[in-house]
Parts: sequence; C-alpha cells; structure tokens
Amino acid sequence: MPNMKKSSPLAFLNRRDWGRAALGLALAPWSLSAQQALGSPADAQRPLRWQNDPFALGVASGQPRADSVVLWTRLLVQDADSANKAGPLPVLCEVFADEALRKRVGQWTTMTSAQRGMSVHVEAKGLQPARHYWYRFTSGSATSPVGRTRTTPAAQDKVASLRMVLASCQHFEQGYFTAHREIAQQDLDLVLFVGDYIYESSNPRYVVRAHLGGVPQTLDEYRARHSQYKGDADLRASHAAHPWVMTWDDHEVVNDYANDRDPKFSDPQVFLRRRAAAYQAYFEHMPVRVGPDAANPANMRIHDRMAWGQLADIWTLDNRQYRSYHACPDPLKGGGRVVMGCNELADAQRSMLGMDQERWLKQGLNDSQAAWKVVAQGTQMSSTGLATPMGRSAFTDGWDGYPLARERFLQNIVEAKLQDVLVLGGDVHMNVAANLRVQPNDDKSPIVASELVTTSITSRGMGETLAAQIRSNNPDIAHLRPDERGFTWLQITPEGVQSAFKTTANPVQQASAFSTQAQFAVQRGVAGVVKG
Ligand SMILES: [Fe+2]
Repeated sequence: MPNMKKSSPLAFLNRRDWGRAALGLALAPWSLSAQQALGSPADAQRPLRWQNDPFALGVASGQPRADSVVLWTRLLVQDADSANKAGPLPVLCEVFADEALRKRVGQWTTMTSAQRGMSVHVEAKGLQPARHYWYRFTSGSATSPVGRTRTTPAAQDKVASLRMVLASCQHFEQGYFTAHREIAQQDLDLVLFVGDYIYESSNPRYVVRAHLGGVPQTLDEYRARHSQYKGDADLRASHAAHPWVMTWDDHEVVNDYANDRDPKFSDPQVFLRRRAAAYQAYFEHMPVRVGPDAANPANMRIHDRMAWGQLADIWTLDNRQYRSYHACPDPLKGGGRVVMGCNELADAQRSMLGMDQERWLKQGLNDSQAAWKVVAQGTQMSSTGLATPMGRSAFTDGWDGYPLARERFLQNIVEAKLQDVLVLGGDVHMNVAANLRVQPNDDKSPIVASELVTTSITSRGMGETLAAQIRSNNPDIAHLRPDERGFTWLQITPEGVQSAFKTTANPVQQASAFSTQAQFAVQRGVAGVVKG
C-alpha cells in the first residue's frame, strides 16, 4: 500500500490559510510580467527550497494501459514562494516496481509553469502489463507522497478478473469523503469515476462543511474549487491507492449544461469561455492524458476506451459536451425538468452523445472481441418516468430526455447480436439495478443489457415518496434506493459480474461505516440483473 501514514501536510493549514494558499496559486502567475513568467533554463536548474509542501494536493494516476499510465500532481505555490516559483519548473517523476522503492524502472523530468496551473502530467511508458507500480515526484527540496498504480493486462491476456469501484457525485458541502477512505483500503484494479467530481453550486440546506468562494466562473475560480476538493485527505488517499478511469458530468462546469447552452441561456460564446475554463481546470487536476486538445480547452475530449485483456472493453462516455439541447425547456429556467406530452422527445436527430460519439461507440462495440462490454457514462439509462393523466413523464436531463438515442444504442445490441453489455452510471444519487430493453418496461421487448448505477459519495438523493413512485411505475428497475451514500463494488469474471452497493447513512460523517445495501449479479450470456 502507498505511504499514507505520513501525517497530512494540510493538518497545519486552517481553512482560512487553505483558502489563501489556493487563491495565491491561482492568482500569482498573472501578476508576473511575461519575462518573469518565462524564466530561463538556468532558473529551472537552480535547486529550489520550498517553505510549504508543494505536494499538498497529492498524487494520482489514471488512464492505465498495458504499457503505460498517466501520473499526476500539481505544485501548490503559496504566496511567499510565488514570485520565483511560477515556472517553468522541472519536476522529477520516478516509477518503481516495488513498494520499498528500491527497484526504479523509470524516471522522467517534466517542466511545469503557471500557464498550466503548475500541474504535472507524466505518461509513464515502457511498463509491464498487469503490474503494480509505485511513483513519486520531486521538486527541489520537496518530495511527494508515494502513489500506487496498476497497468492493464496485455490485449491478448485471458484475464481471470477485474475488480473495481464505481463512484460519482461528491458534493464537498454535503458530507465527508469517508467513502474514499474506504475505497483506498480496498483491493482493486481501478476506480471508475463517472462525474460530478466537483460541484460549482451550493445548497444552503445541506452544508456539513463549506465551499470556499462563490460559484466559479473563471479559470482561477475553478482551480481554487478543485484545489479545495484535493485538500481532502480521504480523496487524496483514494487517488494515491488506485489508478482512476474518469469521465465528467455537468457539475464540473455548471448544473444541467448541454453542449454550449447553460441553464441561463447565456450567449453561447460567453458560456463557452466559462466551459473552457472549467475543462482546463479539470484537466489540470486529473490524471488524464492531455492530448492536442489542451491548446484549445473549449473542446476537450474526455471520452475514451480501454481494454482489460480479453475480459472487458470499457468505454467512458461524454454525456455533456456534444448533447442536443434539453427538449421542451422552461424558457425562464433552463436545464432539465419533468415534462409530459413533449413532442420534441420524438425527434430522432436529438442525441445525448452527439452523432460522432454515437458512431464511435457503435463501431467499437460491434468490433469488440472482449467477453464483457462495459459502457460507463454519467447518468441512469433505464427509464424513471411516471404515468400521469397528461401522459408519461420524462426528466429531460437524463436518458428519458433522449429516448430515441437510447433506443438506437439498445437496438444496435439486438442488430449486432451483442451479448454481455453492462451499462454503468451515476449522477442520480441513488443505487439502481435495472434491466435494459429496447422499449423500456415493455415485457414483449427482450432484455438486451444490464444496468448498475451507483449512489453518490456525498450528494443528497431524492425523497422516498418519489422513489417509491418510480419503482412502481418502472418494472425494469429491480432496485432503487436514494436514501444512502456510498459507492459500488464490482467484480467482473469470464462467468459473470458480481456487484455490491456499499453504503452508509446520509449525510456522511467522518466516522461513518459502510455496509452492503444490496448485491446484484449478471450471468455471462444472460442479459439482466439478478439479486443476490
Ligand atoms: Fe451529482
């Protein structure tokens, strides 16, 4: 296990100091002249003495492959240090084959600067498949905590299992990240995080601990929000213990955004600037490959595909950036809402993923030779509509708001004769196990795939009255509980999928303990979820 016994450097920072530290980091670069900000190679070589711990935001790894993994950190520059540490600064990253850090297998020196928020992304290459590795960073006098990561099995490997945790929705204000302390201690291959990593907004009714600053709009403000989340020791431990495979949902930018439209119907050019700031801050704080898109954060690709040997192909989808606008919006209050009799829902041109991503996914699924096809995305795919005197209701932010896009995805499973498709989601702050049919809740339409949706790490769920109505109106749903917080444990083998909803009472406290709310299995070759 990674070295997590070391006491947290943040223990010495009170909330006010922490805010100043985060803010100092965000603002300092822009107060320098271009000349100073550029520095010189000689400056970069100079041994640096740090007065604060520049690695207080922790370390992380992600997007594992059979021969590589992305290793991440971000230097925290405090006021006293900022004048001469805006960069470019060299950061050393070392990778070891053993926990004792005796067998070094690679080292990389990379430059960071204020322009990229002092973030560091190293793609550690030349690694062996299906192995644990340990890594750390060094900048001058400071050395980071040690992280542990793992590569994927080789493409042709017949793998016995994939063990992971599915998680989403961690509103900092609405509870402690105790679930991450639990996740850090589990024996896992990876953590699959499907969005709402930060929240931009607050709900004053549910504040266990407060956000710093108001609703972020600018790059510096999104950076400060991410820094505050990474200030949580349990979240850092979860990143340091396992590689993360990630996608985003809406709250990384703003609630219920759709493509270039925010809920206030702002001028798209104005909103796209905000979205670019949020995307850039996201990339600066996550262990994700920064591709050619980094130069243009207005359009950053997060959707991805990874293989776990012959056992599973895993797609992580982007439900936000390319989606069609919400159907039948309230002109006074944009975003999703519950609608009845909305004809726009029947428009086949509307898409949750955008047509390019839909085609890419379809092609990938149809070509996949893996035993399991795991489609991880932000939200719930099974229907949650209710029968009303005005017709069946649909919540327009979820898949019910894009019913023909959902039908295309599920119909392709039938036409391409795909088996063993597992859809994973988050966003809705409840545990859901469901059967997916081309026509939801129509028992004449066969079950073609299985769905598991994880409850939130902390974010509040809906009330039980509505949950009971959803259950009774949607026989495809085998399990739906919004009352508890936690994460979902999953084990995939050639024979089947086992899952356990690990939960605790709401709101999550620092001393909360987790137990099993329910377990569901999916048998190989048989679409649909089975209790137990
Ligand atoms: Fe959420």
